[in-house]
Order: sequence, then C-alpha cells, then structure tokens
Amino acid sequence: MADSEDVSSNPSDNRPFHDVLDVAISRRTVIVGSLAVAATTAFIEPGVVGARNTPEQARRLGFGNGQRSELVGFEPIPNDEELAVPAISDDYEFQVLIPWGTPLFSGVPELDPTDVAANAPYQDRQIGLGHDGMWFFPDRRRPNTQGVLCINHEFGTNFHIFQRETPVNQQDDGPQPTSLAEVRYSQDVHGVSVVELHKTNSGWTHVVDGARNRRITPNTPMDFTGPAARSALLETAAGNEPAGTVNNCANGKTPWGTYLTCEENFNGYFGARNPEQWTPTAEQERYGFSETGFDYGWYLFDDRWDLSNPQYANEENRFGWIVEVDPDRPHAKPRKRTALGRFKHENAEVVVGRGGRVVVYMGDDQRFDYIYKFVSARNWRSMFARGIHPFDEGTLYVARFDDDYTGKWLELSPDNPALAGWSMDEILVYTRLAADAVGATPMDRPEWITAGQRRTVYCALTNNSQRTEPNAANPLAPNPDGHIIRWRDTRQYTGRRFRWDIYVLAQDTRPENGGDPEGTFTDPDGLWADPDGRLFIETDGGQPFGNNQLVVSDIRREEFRRLFAGVKDDEITGLTVTPNRRTMFINTQHPGDGSPAATNFPATENGEFITPAQPDGPVPRDSTIVITRKNGGIVGS
Ligand code: FEO
Ligand code: CA
Ligand code: CA
Ligand code: CA
Repeated sequence: MADSEDVSSNPSDNRPFHDVLDVAISRRTVIVGSLAVAATTAFIEPGVVGARNTPEQARRLGFGNGQRSELVGFEPIPNDEELAVPAISDDYEFQVLIPWGTPLFSGVPELDPTDVAANAPYQDRQIGLGHDGMWFFPDRRRPNTQGVLCINHEFGTNFHIFQRETPVNQQDDGPQPTSLAEVRYSQDVHGVSVVELHKTNSGWTHVVDGARNRRITPNTPMDFTGPAARSALLETAAGNEPAGTVNNCANGKTPWGTYLTCEENFNGYFGARNPEQWTPTAEQERYGFSETGFDYGWYLFDDRWDLSNPQYANEENRFGWIVEVDPDRPHAKPRKRTALGRFKHENAEVVVGRGGRVVVYMGDDQRFDYIYKFVSARNWRSMFARGIHPFDEGTLYVARFDDDYTGKWLELSPDNPALAGWSMDEILVYTRLAADAVGATPMDRPEWITAGQRRTVYCALTNNSQRTEPNAANPLAPNPDGHIIRWRDTRQYTGRRFRWDIYVLAQDTRPENGGDPEGTFTDPDGLWADPDGRLFIETDGGQPFGNNQLVVSDIRREEFRRLFAGVKDDEITGLTVTPNRRTMFINTQHPGDGSPAATNFPATENGEFITPAQPDGPVPRDSTIVITRKNGGIVGS
C-alpha cells in the first residue's frame, strides 16, 4: 500500500528502533574495526552492516571475496528508465497470468474496466484487483505443472476501479462510489481468489470452472476461532454474522496445506457518515480510524463500515486478523485466528520449531510499529489429533531489540506483569496497545518476514520518512530507503531470546555507495529466502530511478542482482514457486497506478506489449507474472 497512507499512530514512547540501531551499529563498527572475530561470533552468519561493509572488512570476515556468485549467476538488467513494459534478465522469460477481471467461471465475461455498470455484477466471479501475497499449492500428481493458486487482492484506488477521471497526481484516488451498487463493486475487487492452474504446451493457464475456484470478498461469511472468538468486543448490537476480509496484503502457508491471508490497512475502509456522532476511542485512534478513512466511501452506503452507527459498534474489531483458507474446500468458511493478534498484518511466515510446535512470524506495517511471533502450545500434529487447531492455543509475543545485538520476545498475556488487569480478549483485539504496554521496539515499517537457512529470519523494514536525525546506522534523514534486519531465536524458533543484525541497508546498494547499479534497490517489501541461500527482494517505493523490481541476493556473499523490473508506477509483490522451483510467480500491483497514460500493461498490440503507453488505450491491470529460466534452471540461479 502506498506510503502516503502510512501515518504513524503509535503514541507510546517506546524507544524507536532507529535509536537502538544507531547505538548497536556504532558499537558494531567499533567491533568490526578492532576485533573482527568478535563481530562474526556476535552474530549469526558472516555479514557486516552495509554502511561499514568495505571490501577490506568483508575479506577479513571471510565473505564477499569478489568471486562470481554461483548461486546467483544470471545476467542482471539495468533499471534506469520508467518503462511502460516489464524487463527481465536475458537468461529468463516471463508470461502474464490472471490479470484483473479474468473470469473464473463460464458465463462470466472478461472485465471491461471502462464500463462499471456492465462489469459490476460479475466482479465477484472474476479475478480481483490489487494482486499481492499468494501461494501455489501443488497437486500431488504433476506437482510442478498443476495446482491451485490462492492470491490476495489488497486494494484498488477509486480511480483504478471506476476510471472516471485522470488523477491530477499519483496520489489522487479519484471520486468515491455514488451508490450501494458501486460500493459492492468496489468491495468485490477486494478479497482473495482461489484458482486452479495448469501448464500446457503454450504455457501456464488458469482453469475456468476449476472445482476449487473461488472468490472470497468483504462480504463472504467468516468464523472466528481461538481465545477471543466469543469476545463481546467482536459482537455488534445489530447481531450481524462476521463477514468478509479486506486489504489482504501478504500471506502465509501452513504445514497442513492451508493458506493464510493477512488483513493490513483495514482501518481505511471505515468512516463516519455522521461525523458529529462519532468520537474515536483510544483504541480506534491507535489503529488509525478516521472520519473518511482512505476515501473508499463504503461507509456512505453500507452501514457495517459506518463508525457513527451504534448498531455496528465493534464491527471494526472484526478486521485486522490473519484468516485461514482451505484451498481444497471451496465451500468452507474462512477462519479468523484470534490467537495471532489484531494489527495491520503484513504476512505470516510459518515454521516448525522445537518439539513440532509451529511458530508464526508477523510484521505490523506502520511506522514505529512492531514485529510479533506466535508459538503453538504443543506439537502441531498432536494438537490436531486432540481436535485442537495449532493456531488456537499458544503464546503471542512481541519483539524488543536491544543495543547489544540481542533481543527478547515479550509475552502478550495477562501473565506478563505489564499487562496485569488486561483480559486475554483485550490483548488479542487491541494487540497494538498491549505491545505498547510491554515495551516492544518500534520499527521502521515491518513488511514481509521470511525464514532462511540455519533458522535465520529476515524482515524487510521498508522505510521511515519520519526519521529526523541522521545517525551512524542510517546517515540520511529522513531515510526513505529502508533496510533488512535478521535474527535467530533460541530453542529452534521457539525461545524467548534472539540475536540480531542488519543484513543490508538499502541505500548501500547504490552505486555512489559502492553498490552494483544492476543490484541497486530501495524500499524492500516482499521477501522470500529459498532453501539454497538466496534472498528474493521485491520493492515498493519511490525509486530514485527506474521501476519497482525483483532483486536476488546471494546471502553469503551479500551480492544483489536485478532479475526483473516492473512497469511504471507499479509495485512488485507476491512470490511463490512450484516445488522444483523451476517456475516462480510474482505480481505487478497497480501498474501505472491504474492510468493508461502510464502503461497499458498487460494489453498487447500485434502480439507485443504496448510501448510507449497510449493514454487512450487499454486500462492497465494487475497481473501475475510467471518467471522461468530459459535453460530450465532453478529461478534465481
Ligand atoms: Fe500491503 Fe505493507 O504492504
Ligand atoms: Ca501494496
Ligand atoms: Ca507490502
Ligand atoms: Ca509497501
């Protein structure tokens, strides 16, 4: 989601992460300068802080010796123009899959974005807009060429959805819906698509009428489970059943084969039809609710989203959760797992830790918000055997990063003295406030988290424009570029302590700082660590040049190489692979910010993508991009 919508709502005086970083990295610089061995033992794997990572230091620490990477051997691409069409390494090729408006069922027409009235009745049976996190669930037979894709539809601006007027600038969201029917259309572009895919002789294609095809929208019936499921904080006077998911950002997948979709900027869909009758509570303020939200205007015609309607008080508490979807059961209600807490969820990285307990790492994407983890009570298989879902019993923690490269997971339960007097319901529904109370470390916008080799966990901290003072960790103020932090927990993911370090400061990949121009990136967002030691980095930000992109890093060598660049004003997000990793799926989200003046992607003319953009040409559509290596190799190699 665009930076403009990210305004910190954390009033706590917890020590901002950049202060900790400042101290920690200053200290580290001293260590690196005086005793290199201490630096390597101080942390997890070879690596020094980017800003101080001179070639000489790198050699002394035993990595970055200048040899060509074997893990990341493809020819990288430049990225110095805002192109209307994507670019990919010469060693690779791509195809387009399931653009916005693709029919999932027969009898449903292809979208015409310029005809809202004609299209609106069908959007809940077409691929939505705002392609974001996703996961490919392979079929047992033909796992590398057949399966089902679950894909999030995070959002679409009013301009993109309604195409009513050219925005005066890229932040203009266009005019609001003017009727309940238009609100329903706006709602139906959101949610999740479940769609069967298979590979044919002419490439990957979706299966119309696939048995598992499904659309989940902001109006799909939902169940709550876990400790807060029966909480009065989730009840409304109207008595309406829980329904819908919204702003489905990134994702997770479980060892038992289900999909997790994460609700991020849910606050933006609510507003007050009668602003004089609504005064925000402290909890509503902490979650960023306002009179007009993000101008989606749903509250103007649909009572559920109206904060000033007393019949629907608490409806807003029903959003901000992680929702579990079973891709094999198209009629099963999705389940909101309350034990995982309520905040602006980016993604959910699930790993199996000591004793078979599942651990879920989760970021809350806002300036000065937190990183969380959940640990199941017991071995996940034995919990299922006893009829207990592993996400319904366990412990939620929030991270505190200390100056000496160690950290603590602080328990979010009434057992924590800092939360004496809180009920478990309150902690789970108002998780942000509970985390404030226990002294978590405010971070620079936690986006995706991924677990790599040797149980090292990486988190993209995308940027923090509210930084006002330069420091050793990040000499630019404000710092628009972001960085990637990593840590390793004790007790095989399940412990309460960890060691941490910075993997890279994005600005240090710039040429003027010694970076390779064909590996420069800013605003890291999507992350995926593969089993071989590559880190895939997807970007979402104001690039200093060029478009958003997919960069592949050889973690051991701290090398960065650009594999793919998107189109003007898009964001590259979502990442999943077939089991053999010979096929990768990523997304271009909001290409051209919805404006054909910027790009017509993925429309073609005479079999070619259209360039330069035709302002009167086809409306750009969010799309999935299928990436393969021409020689059939593992993607990233
Ligand atoms: Fe939906 Fe934080 O990106
Ligand atoms: Ca986004
Ligand atoms: Ca994101
Ligand atoms: Ca982002």
